[in-house]
Amino acid sequence: MVRSSRSLEPEWLDHLPPEDPRAVRSRADLRRVNAIMGNARIIARHLGGARRVADLGGGDGSLMQAVQRRLKRELEITIVDRVCGLEVFDFLANTRAPLDAIVANLFLHHLTQADLRRLFALAATRAPLFVACEPRRSALALAGARLMWFIGANDVTRHDAVASVRAGFAGGELSDAWPAAPGWSLEERPAPPFSHLFVARSHAAL
Ligand SMILES: C[S@@+](CC[C@H](N)C(=O)[O-])C[C@H]1O[C@@H](n2cnc3c(N)ncnc32)[C@H](O)[C@@H]1O
Repeated sequence: MVRSSRSLEPEWLDHLPPEDPRAVRSRADLRRVNAIMGNARIIARHLGGARRVADLGGGDGSLMQAVQRRLKRELEITIVDRVCGLEVFDFLANTRAPLDAIVANLFLHHLTQADLRRLFALAATRAPLFVACEPRRSALALAGARLMWFIGANDVTRHDAVASVRAGFAGGELSDAWPAAPGWSLEERPAPPFSHLFVARSHAAL
């Protein structure tokens, strides 16, 4: 059942050591999941001319590699992930590196609503464009998550896929968490088949 509000539960991949074979296998599964969801295509379409891009919770960086291939141009990519020893809040609070865009793919749903607001408040001061592709909290996405065995996904991926949809987003939930400052255009909508897209664009960048 898909609940009308988000439900967060721990994801197994977050609690396995990065070198654990089940974690390694699950990251490989994630590459296929991203391909099925079309997330690289969706993100690439909204990056415009951005060159310096930080990917929050970027994992092994394969998603941004796929985005780069789609764009057919080189990006200057910073992968922010605890598997590389970088916590997103530390990065956003401390980086002074100029960024054209911040990306988040299958990451924001890990956060409570309070942490989401905190992260967005920091992100809005760091880059003029924010693009996120997250699991959509829908019956179709939940059905897809339950079919992970069909692509040979391991137990970690099968568990986390269902947990991700339950913690995913619908309606204008991400827009509601974005700071209510003037000068931003927000877009939030389903990105079929299973994703939920959020784009915040500063008018200064238009
Ligand atoms: C579901 S994976 C998605 C990885 C990647 N974005 C992709 O699409 O393949 C979520 C990632 O978020 C990372 N993560 C979770 N909480 C984090 C935090 N507070 N700071 C940095 N990374 C975090 C995990 O290590 C994991 O790699």
